[in-house]
Amino acid sequence: MTEQFFRGLEATTIRRLKEHVGEEVLVQGWLYNKRGKGKLQFLLVRDGTGIVQAVAAKGALPEECFEAAKAMTQESSLRLTGKVVADERAPGGVEIQPSWIEEVHRSEEYPITKKEHGTAFLMEHRHLWLRSKKQTAVLRIRDEIIKAIRDFFYERDFACVDSPMFTPNACEGTTTLFRVDYFGEPAFLTQSGQLYAEATAMALGRVYCFGPTFRAEKSKTRRHLTEFWMVEPEAAFFDLDDVMALAEDFVSTIVSRVLENRAEELEVLERDTARLEASTKTPYPRITYEEAARILCEEGDGSFVKGEDFGAPHETLLGERFDRPVLVHRWPKEIKSFYMKRDPERPDLVLGVDMIAPEGYGEIIGGSQREDDLDLLLARIEEEGLDREVFSWFLDLRRYGSVPHGGFGLGLERTVAWICGVEHLRECIPFPRMLYRIYP
Ligand code: 4AD
Ligand code: MG
Repeated sequence: MTEQFFRGLEATTIRRLKEHVGEEVLVQGWLYNKRGKGKLQFLLVRDGTGIVQAVAAKGALPEECFEAAKAMTQESSLRLTGKVVADERAPGGVEIQPSWIEEVHRSEEYPITKKEHGTAFLMEHRHLWLRSKKQTAVLRIRDEIIKAIRDFFYERDFACVDSPMFTPNACEGTTTLFRVDYFGEPAFLTQSGQLYAEATAMALGRVYCFGPTFRAEKSKTRRHLTEFWMVEPEAAFFDLDDVMALAEDFVSTIVSRVLENRAEELEVLERDTARLEASTKTPYPRITYEEAARILCEEGDGSFVKGEDFGAPHETLLGERFDRPVLVHRWPKEIKSFYMKRDPERPDLVLGVDMIAPEGYGEIIGGSQREDDLDLLLARIEEEGLDREVFSWFLDLRRYGSVPHGGFGLGLERTVAWICGVEHLRECIPFPRMLYRIYP
């Protein structure tokens, strides 16, 4: 830990103030809000780890400090030292009695105030909106999820081996590719690191890649970003059942971790944690695409066509039938990617799986067992009209010690949205990239 001192005191994060009751501490942050009553100034100070109330009493600190507190505007930056006192009524259970307050910078009139702002305004001020309580809570939970993901794989001998962002080939269909000019050669931003993860899995056995992925999605839904983060485990000698078992172990572990470590943030978000508890328990229900299609035909609004992919309302309907995520497996090959392995018992199906979150959050995972047979894979590449040349390296994996293998991709922002109970993906990544948004 880097130690920072000011007036002989070591800096403490607000989150850890409870550990310092009765002690003098240094807090550095921004003025979140202020109320004044003559000789008392109630300052709500935030530092990104939490918010604490500091009650400045005239006479209890140097006059210039009291005056500085009085004059301070919303979002002014400050340093203060003071004694931590326990107070059950206070958020976080403690308050500070300041002995020194110093303004670091006087904020200009802050554009985001207590009043309700429209989404367009907030998105235009995303760089400042991030400072609000709810947005900070979402990003803390996002960080907790990222840490849980890395720990989960580390503990199970999966090595993190990242895939490139520039690629010469398409992984998830050719309609959502972002083209870039790569020194005069056409290239694309990656839609998924999977194909490269298959190669690294043949080298290291169990791997995952975790990074941004790009899709030129023309849809303006609350579930689509053009740049999103995906974590993609891939393992040699995994069949579809192994992939599903890994996926439910993974998701239930992530949910448990957030419930355990981020109760305060979930409370800020007013998340109904009882509903999340169910998702910490495995097994998750598993149904085939055909069973799911039957449910949608019988109970849906008539918009579902058997043989086609699910739309958002269909995923919502399926997700709401269960208290925890549901795994939908064995899909018609026409609607899934070329690399999925054919079901040996049903050549019209592939061994793919989607995980659909409850409460209307839709698909959070897409995965499969991969086609490991050279000739069948070649046939699929031809069928899809893909350029065989650019897949030549990928085909090599089926030439030199091919093994059954599989994996999946979990969309980070969709998972964050579900766990936080936030409706729109734009609040689940610091700076969202969408159809009509690339600023700030
Ligand atoms: O189902 P998808 O397209 O699967 C793949 O890309 C596989 N190659 C992954 C693999 O097997 N290694 O995408 C995986 C997940 C989805 O379930 C969803 O959570 C998320 O990525 N996702 C998006 N998230 C935000 N915005 C978008 N436009 C997304 N498209 C997919
Ligand atoms: Mg999918």
